[in-house]
Amino acid sequence: MARTILITGATGAVGTEVAARLAAAGHSVIGMVHQTREFVRGSGRRLPAGAVVPLSGDITTPGLGLSSRQRSELRGRVDLIVHCAAMTDFGRDPAVYDTVNVDGTARIIEFATSGSRSAAPLVHVSTAYVCGERDGVISEAELDTGQRFANHYENSKFRAELAVRAAAEHGLPAVVVRPSIVTGAARTGVIRDFSNMYVVLRVLTRGLVRTIPGHYDAVIDLVPIDFVADAIGQVCERFDDAAGHTLHLTGAPPLTLRDFSDVMAEFPSLHVPRYVPPYGFEPTLMPDLERRYYERVVALYESYFRRRAVFDTSTAQRLIEARPAAGGRPYLRRLLRYGMRAGYFLPAPPPACAQPEPRTTGGAVRQ
Ligand SMILES: NC(=O)c1ccc[n+]([C@@H]2O[C@H](COP(=O)([O-])OP(=O)(O)OC[C@H]3O[C@@H](n4cnc5c(N)ncnc54)[C@H](OP(=O)(O)O)[C@@H]3O)[C@@H](O)[C@H]2O)c1
Repeated sequence: MARTILITGATGAVGTEVAARLAAAGHSVIGMVHQTREFVRGSGRRLPAGAVVPLSGDITTPGLGLSSRQRSELRGRVDLIVHCAAMTDFGRDPAVYDTVNVDGTARIIEFATSGSRSAAPLVHVSTAYVCGERDGVISEAELDTGQRFANHYENSKFRAELAVRAAAEHGLPAVVVRPSIVTGAARTGVIRDFSNMYVVLRVLTRGLVRTIPGHYDAVIDLVPIDFVADAIGQVCERFDDAAGHTLHLTGAPPLTLRDFSDVMAEFPSLHVPRYVPPYGFEPTLMPDLERRYYERVVALYESYFRRRAVFDTSTAQRLIEARPAAGGRPYLRRLLRYGMRAGYFLPAPPPACAQPEPRTTGGAVRQ
């Protein structure tokens, strides 16, 4: 049944792919646009004109930055909301995560439950790392276990999920999906934005940081973007079955740091970092430039090299047909090959070469 679906963060990496699938399935898709106005897919192609109706909005502004007329007209039309919008860069001012991820989600809930119509069902895109720094098997039903968070992003997504759960207890039909670390398409490795974990991999594979604290058996869960978008599309199609549930969208099988190390070593032009036990790691002993790269880039993600979380996916497997294509080492090879073809993962420069200073934008990692 064709429905009218509002997607926030519709120009983002995940949002655009979800919008493409929902539009192709015949739904009327309204994509909230904020600063970026173009819907560009991982392949670099724009969505066909008219596939998504853009709507300027800001989830950090009361009323989503819409006039009251626009808001009530939208509320009257929308049958389902997919909330993808978020601040996903690491290293920003902590207040930004509160404003965009926590308060922004509260505004979406307020919009979904406003007016005289029954509440608009909500698919909330969270992250598997709301589990914080916990190790071991993480179930989809768990949320608040007193966990410690590695950064403000995780903490803010946790609080956003708490708000969605509270609203669900008061009658908002909601599904929470939790992707792990979203990376390139399963069969090609293609990705639109080289951000977050890619930035760390670039610094490491260039040898700009040569030693990092970590455990070889730490688990880094990379999930292909096409699987994430397919799964969210299916959740929208089967919303009534999925309502009230939380679904982990993760890679299969997840990769360990040992896998990373071995696969990187297959590419002679890439540097392979050395992992040292975290208790013995002392950044002040690093050469000056390497320490700056470590502090400005790698340190933001360092806890991911220590964790041993394994995400249970029983609910996702029961409720959706989409399955991640076989991942593991072959998938990591595809990601590295694509990054090299795209000129993002560059060969390590000869030691005598002058290295560029690490770049940051507004405190956030954007290399
Ligand atoms: N990427 C991952 O590895 C990953 C992993 C797990 C979970 N997730 C979750 O998946 C969702 C989508 O992630 P993504 O990777 O697609 O993120 P992304 O590429 O960074 O896109 C974020 C989107 O949110 C929009 N946005 C930011 N601030 C906004 C505001 N104030 N009002 C309205 N829209 C705003 C952005 O628009 P502008 O650019 O125009 O500001 C952009 O379209 C997020 O909720 C994220 O937490 C992502």
